[in-house]
Amino acid sequence: MEGKEKLVINGGCVLEGKTRVNGGKNTSVAVLPAVLLSDDVCVIENVPDIEDVKVLVQILRSLGAKVEYETPERLRIDPRKAEGTKVESCYAGRLRASYYLAGALLGRCGQAEVAFPGGCNFDDRPIDQHIMGFQALGAATETSDEVIRAKVKDGGKRLKGNDVFFDMVTVGGTINVMLAAVKAEGKTTIYNAAKEPHIVDLANFLNSMGARIKGAGTDMIRIRGVDHLNGTNYAVIPDQIETGTLMIAAAATRGDVTIYGCIPTHMEALTAKLLEMGARVTDMDDAIRVRFQNAYRPVRVKTQVYPGFPTDLQQPMTALLTTTPGTSYVQENIYKTRFGHINPLIHMGAEARVEDQTIIINGVPQLHGAAVEATDLRAGAALLVAGLMAQGITEIHRAELIDRGYEHIEKKLNLLGARIERESPSLM
Ligand code: EPU
Repeated sequence: MEGKEKLVINGGCVLEGKTRVNGGKNTSVAVLPAVLLSDDVCVIENVPDIEDVKVLVQILRSLGAKVEYETPERLRIDPRKAEGTKVESCYAGRLRASYYLAGALLGRCGQAEVAFPGGCNFDDRPIDQHIMGFQALGAATETSDEVIRAKVKDGGKRLKGNDVFFDMVTVGGTINVMLAAVKAEGKTTIYNAAKEPHIVDLANFLNSMGARIKGAGTDMIRIRGVDHLNGTNYAVIPDQIETGTLMIAAAATRGDVTIYGCIPTHMEALTAKLLEMGARVTDMDDAIRVRFQNAYRPVRVKTQVYPGFPTDLQQPMTALLTTTPGTSYVQENIYKTRFGHINPLIHMGAEARVEDQTIIINGVPQLHGAAVEATDLRAGAALLVAGLMAQGITEIHRAELIDRGYEHIEKKLNLLGARIERESPSLM
């Protein structure tokens, strides 16, 4: 098993106590490219200290922006001298969200050349809707397996607002078109827009710089293009997927954990499922407490766009259900092949199979530790949850994939009673 980082979990613990969630990954990876649209300095707070953010900082610097870490979570970004329009594959290939540079650079300079994005490759993940949106706003585009090129037609500098109709609800497509449209000439309306909390957060961030965006959080977003955006000071929202992963880990270890700094209304789909299973979940203003009561019941989960059950929690939730008595069903409706966690879970003693995009899980009393490999970020999170529950030692190889989205996860879990050690080439 090749990979840089390894997490070694001595399982069978019960997580207990208080913890705090980080700023949102999927918000930060949209907000950082969006800073390029500003004509002045922006200070972004509550940015998680994760790999995807570190790569984005390198990309912004490679384009000429000045980025300083005021603290590990507070970045001061001065985009005034960012003159680059090209993002090289050595950066873009390391995360999915590098494609937001295409929308941001188009909006800033009227042109962009971004090497094809990398990130979790658990499915094909086409970007035809992003491209269609850029074209609707007046960009000429050229894409290959290696690169996305887009440029305002006829040598112009500014895109033109238009109606954009998405064929399916796409988070990335909605964000990219928002980025491209915010400084376009005239009015853009995005139909069938995604409604995820990070779409709303991005709109709030852009509006705090002087953008005119209405309707974020509904399926129709209206944008009136502006000539100029100010600098701003903005704190990104907490990460709902990290919150959910911690909630699931608490439930899976039959523990009692209170997660502070989260937004409970973002968690309603998961909260409803945990309550249905028989866990106790208490919402407070900015915290959620998850407690084991006495026994769990099997459930049916279907991933959907927000406010449905998030696909990004499908994998950790599956891990929890492997030790829930009875037969549970988890239907993955967003991605056709997001099942990289199933074989490793089976290797750890789970009884699960995939039929037509539905995972059928027969709960077993106990998983056992094993050497397993993370195939993508959330598959890695699922193996963490499984390793915490399992009897004995679990080794998660390629744990660097987990670091892409979770900040110092083993330290956070160890403070709640987990026993996780990291083996890292840099520490050896
Ligand atoms: N799709 C297309 N064409 C497009 C765009 C999307 O066919 O042009 C399809 C996708 O293949 C997928 C569905 O539409 O079947 C939804 O994809 P979406 O565009 O919403 O996903 P994304 O923007 O690529 C973001 C998150 C993912 C998360 C999804 C769904 C970021 C950087 N990534 O991806 O997060 O799973 O939304 O909520 O925000 C993760 O954090 O682990 C992660 C993968």
